[in-house]
Amino acid sequence: IQTHRLNPSASIPASQAQAAQAAELDSDFLEPVHHDLDPVFKPPERLFAGDVPVPHIKSREEYVKLYQESIKAPSVFWSKMASELLEWERPPKFAAQGGYEDGDFSWFDGGLINACVNAVDRHAAATPDKTAIIWESDEPGEHEHISYRRLLIEVSKLANVFKSHGLRKGDHVAIYMPMVPEALYAMLACARLGLVHCVVFAGFSADAVRDRINDCGAKLVITADQGKRGGKVINLKRTVDQALLETPTIEKCLVFRRTGEFNIPFHKGRDLWYHEEVEKARPVCPPEPMHPEDPLFILYTSGSTGKPKGLIHSTGGYMLQTASSFKYIFDYHPSDIYGCMADVGWITGHSYICYGPLTMGATTVVFESIPTYPDAGRFWDCVQTHKITQLYTAPTAIRTLKKFGDEFVTKHDLSSLRVLGSVGEPINPEAWQWYHQVPGRSQCAIVDTYWQTETGSIIMTPLPGAIATKPGSCTVPFFGIEPVIIDATTGAEIKGNDVTGVLALRMHPGGWPSMARTILGDHKRFLDTYFNVYKGYYFTGDGAHRDKDGYYWVRGRVDDVINVSGHRISTSEVESAMIGHPAVAESAVVGIPDDVTGQALAVFVVLKPEFDVPLAPSPEATHHHHIKVDDVKKSMIQHIRQAVGPFAAPKMLFLVPDLPKTRSGKIMRRILRKVGGGEVKSEEQIKELGDLSTLADPGLIPQLVEIVHAKA
Ligand code: PRX
Repeated sequence: IQTHRLNPSASIPASQAQAAQAAELDSDFLEPVHHDLDPVFKPPERLFAGDVPVPHIKSREEYVKLYQESIKAPSVFWSKMASELLEWERPPKFAAQGGYEDGDFSWFDGGLINACVNAVDRHAAATPDKTAIIWESDEPGEHEHISYRRLLIEVSKLANVFKSHGLRKGDHVAIYMPMVPEALYAMLACARLGLVHCVVFAGFSADAVRDRINDCGAKLVITADQGKRGGKVINLKRTVDQALLETPTIEKCLVFRRTGEFNIPFHKGRDLWYHEEVEKARPVCPPEPMHPEDPLFILYTSGSTGKPKGLIHSTGGYMLQTASSFKYIFDYHPSDIYGCMADVGWITGHSYICYGPLTMGATTVVFESIPTYPDAGRFWDCVQTHKITQLYTAPTAIRTLKKFGDEFVTKHDLSSLRVLGSVGEPINPEAWQWYHQVPGRSQCAIVDTYWQTETGSIIMTPLPGAIATKPGSCTVPFFGIEPVIIDATTGAEIKGNDVTGVLALRMHPGGWPSMARTILGDHKRFLDTYFNVYKGYYFTGDGAHRDKDGYYWVRGRVDDVINVSGHRISTSEVESAMIGHPAVAESAVVGIPDDVTGQALAVFVVLKPEFDVPLAPSPEATHHHHIKVDDVKKSMIQHIRQAVGPFAAPKMLFLVPDLPKTRSGKIMRRILRKVGGGEVKSEEQIKELGDLSTLADPGLIPQLVEIVHAKA
């Protein structure tokens, strides 16, 4: 197909944004697909059987009515929702204002609100003994219930600690924590004072932590001595120590004692023990009244260029849409026990472990472990122990657990479950069916929720009691969202059904309340990336299909972002890390399909001439040569782990004589994806790669094919 390539990163003037469409967008996810024969599942009858709470939205008609209202009069719709679901210090005067042209959209001007009051105080007053957080430790059998009353005390104390070290409204705080309640205390304590938190996923390397701290200028970082995951110990403080060698803005490092097993070095004047500080603090701390547009947090995500983007989310709009989406999509009722198995280091953890559930006064699970520790029954053991009613996880986890077999699931009592959620990547129909039939026992609603760090909350999803589902489709838009499919070649909207193209969202004034407001320090990049690509639309970066029934099927990223186990990784971020390796002259990173992780990284590396290791094992290659090749590759993989984080470690790394490029020097990634994915073996298949005449050196392709298959 003819496609065009985006270059949102380049600082093209807005007037030239349309010109970006002329470039080539290079993705297999824009190829048409058909979904005529897919099975359709009605909302489970059990939801209406009377022994479980009746769903909030009971029929498709009810959904359509509300959806239409939300689209026709967004300000009216969301204002009503805002007074229903949130507690305002002062009610707003306006709803949506401003527009996407300049990105000056705002929600609820004139109001005053505090996120922590909404998530904690009002429930501590109304339902003090209700469990706010169930902490499920890495070690099975070890768990703890934290009531709303206790949550308020812990958060207030920590907020006072922050104050005592001079932090004031608007200051930035980095959070690099394992999955313990204190990670949520830290977020909420920031929210209480108007400090802007920046959670960095605890799997990121020291370099990545350093870069993020320096980009956001955090004054304080909060971490733990060690983290625990799947029985393994992670030396968080050691990583932070290394990062802090080059972070001039950090004044204090607050250390939570998670294991106490490791004698960590303490830097006098900088490092403080969490428990010692909190002990001194008073459990009462007045919340700071915030403007709804004041930033609540910064969260970094990967884009098309190497530099991660620090997306800024608002207070009022974000709180409103995370709370409302949580209520309707998980069909939350006060008696529920809700468990999202994600990490607070990602947007899913922000919106659907912390802010969404707590704002609704729910009981939310903080899960420290992994799905396969001590065995593949861990999730289901949790469901049985805590009587979880809604479970939210990622397709990678579902595929992994499916491989281990059904007995790990079926031996547990899962009768409490009503809703099973999926997020982070496209879910393949086989995994969906398994999720539905085995853990769901065909009695649960499956909600495949599509959204992004940028959107702040779920934007496409079925609603449990209202929308029939199809395995692999995220079905229909949530309130306030108008998805469109755009023709990648012309940039025009494609109307009608059974169409494939680029997924975008039509912008009306204000967009939707939880949309990110800017990229920290680079508003122009924000506009260029999301709003100047297709005028009048928000560009998602995904390819999608709208089937004959109007259902959406998100296929995957059409930009240079690779989704590995639901982790967003930018090809150029890894490529720029590779350049830092002494042996690397040039490299190209592509995403290849993987049965478990969805996509995996394949790296093609051209060595500097002075590093003359044999590129492929040859018959004459000595044992010595093999070791040398392996060592070089290992050190490169190690290098990526260090520069980005272990989750970005490539599955395959090939040393190649050159990269396939056009005569104008552009790397042909499409070829690398096909070859790296092992799809190309024979000469015939090389021919099927299509027109290679633009290649500077067509003779290179058979060599690449040989190298890839020598490895396999
Ligand atoms: O490609 C889409 C994929 O994940 C991307 C967003 O990643 P991130 O900002 O890290 O947020 C992940 C958690 C919300 C999207 O552009 N994605 C997310 N959910 C789905 C999905 N792809 C298909 N189906 C989904 N349900």
